[in-house]
Amino acid sequence: MAVAFSTFERLKSKGVAAYKNGDYAVAKTYLIDAGECMIELAASAKTAESRRQHEQIAAELIDLAKDCDGRRRTGSGGRGRGRVREQEEDGGSSASDWIAKEKPDIGFDDIAGLEEVKEDIRLKMIYPLAHPELAERYGITLGGGLLLYGPPGTGKTMMAKAIAHELDATFYLISPAQILSKWVGEAEQNIRKLFEAAKGESSAIIFMDEVEALVPMRKSDSSSVMQRVVPQILQELEGFDRGKEQALLFVGATNKPWDLDDAMLRPGRLDTKAYVGLPDAPARFKLLEIHFGDRPLDEDVDFGELCDELEGHSGADIKNIARQSAAIPFTEAIGGREPRPISMQDIENVIEATPPSVNPASLARYTLFAETGAA
Ligand SMILES: Nc1ncnc2c1ncn2[C@@H]1O[C@H](COP(=O)(O)OP(=O)(O)OP(=O)(O)O)[C@@H](O)[C@H]1O
Ligand SMILES: [Mg+2]
Repeated sequence: MAVAFSTFERLKSKGVAAYKNGDYAVAKTYLIDAGECMIELAASAKTAESRRQHEQIAAELIDLAKDCDGRRRTGSGGRGRGRVREQEEDGGSSASDWIAKEKPDIGFDDIAGLEEVKEDIRLKMIYPLAHPELAERYGITLGGGLLLYGPPGTGKTMMAKAIAHELDATFYLISPAQILSKWVGEAEQNIRKLFEAAKGESSAIIFMDEVEALVPMRKSDSSSVMQRVVPQILQELEGFDRGKEQALLFVGATNKPWDLDDAMLRPGRLDTKAYVGLPDAPARFKLLEIHFGDRPLDEDVDFGELCDELEGHSGADIKNIARQSAAIPFTEAIGGREPRPISMQDIENVIEATPPSVNPASLARYTLFAETGAA
C-alpha cells in the first residue's frame, strides 16, 4: 500500500498531541502507525541518505511508542482528559496489550454544535438502550455501524469519545495501519481479539480512525493481508449489532469518504453516515466560550463579532487561535511587562495570520458528498 507523506504527518501529529496530553495508550497507537508509515516511505526513498534519515525518524517514533508503555505502567502523566484504564488482569497477549482502551470523560455537552449528528446518535444508540421496552415494541435495534466523515479538526474523534461517555461504554481506538501492523502480530487474530474484547464489555465502542485506509488502493491491489482482513472486519461488523442489553457500536472516521467502497457502507456495516462539518455561528460562539472560557479577557473582546470573523474555521482552528492569542500577553509578561488580559486586537491579529485550515474547494467536495453520496 503506497503511503503519502501527508498521512505520516497526520498520524505523527496525532501521536505527539496525545503524548503531550498524557494519553499514552492513544499516543502509542498513532506513533506506531506513523513509524510504520515512515518505514514504508524509507523503502521508496530516492537516495541512500534520505532512506537513512527516514529510518532514523521511524526508529525514534517506535522508541517513543515504547516509552508510552513504561509511562502507562508507572502511571506518570494522565493529566489528559479521558484517561486510559489499564486492564492488567487480562494478562498475556490479549487485545488490551496493543489496543488503546479508555472510558472517555467528554460528553455531548462538551461538543459545540453538530446537533443533528448528536440527535441521530441518540436515536440509534442512546434512546433504545434507555427505553428497551419501547425500542422492542417499535422494532428499533440497538447499535450497528456509524461513519463520521468530514474535514479535519471538526470533532469526529471527539464525537466518537462522547458517544462512549454518554453510553458509559468502553472506547477502543484502533487504526487500519495498526490492525495490519506486524508490530502487533497477525491481522486476522488482531481483529478477532479486538471484537472479542469489545463483546465482553457491557457496552463498547470500537473507533477506527482513517477508516478509508482499509480499502485497497486498487482492485488489483495484491496485498494479501488486505484481501483477507477487509472481509473479516465486515463480517465481524455484521454480527456486531443485534444484542438487546449490550450497546456495541463500530464507529469509523474519515476525511476521505469518497475513497470508501460500497461493501463497507452496505446495511449492517457502516450504514449510518453522519457529516461532521464546520461549525455554524452558534457553534463557533460556543467554541469561543470553551477555548477562551478560563482565560483572562479584555472588556473589548466581543465573541459575537469574532464569531463572524471566524466563519470557515474549524473547531481545531479556533482552539489553536485561542492558544496563540493567549501566548501574546503571556510572552510579554514573561519578558517583564505588566500582565494584561487578552485583547480583541490580539485575537484579530492571530485570526488574520491564520487562514481556515479547510479550503473552499475541499469544503465544496464534502458538501457535495453529504448531499449526493458521491464527489
Ligand atoms: N465541535 C467541537 N466542539 C468542541 N471542540 C472541538 C470541536 N471540533 C473540534 N474541536 C477541538 O478541536 C480538537 C480536534 O478535534 P478532533 O480531533 O475531534 O477532530 P477530527 O474531526 O477528529 O479531526 P481529524 O479529521 O484530523 O482526525 C479537539 O480536541 C477539540 O478541542
Ligand atoms: Mg480525528
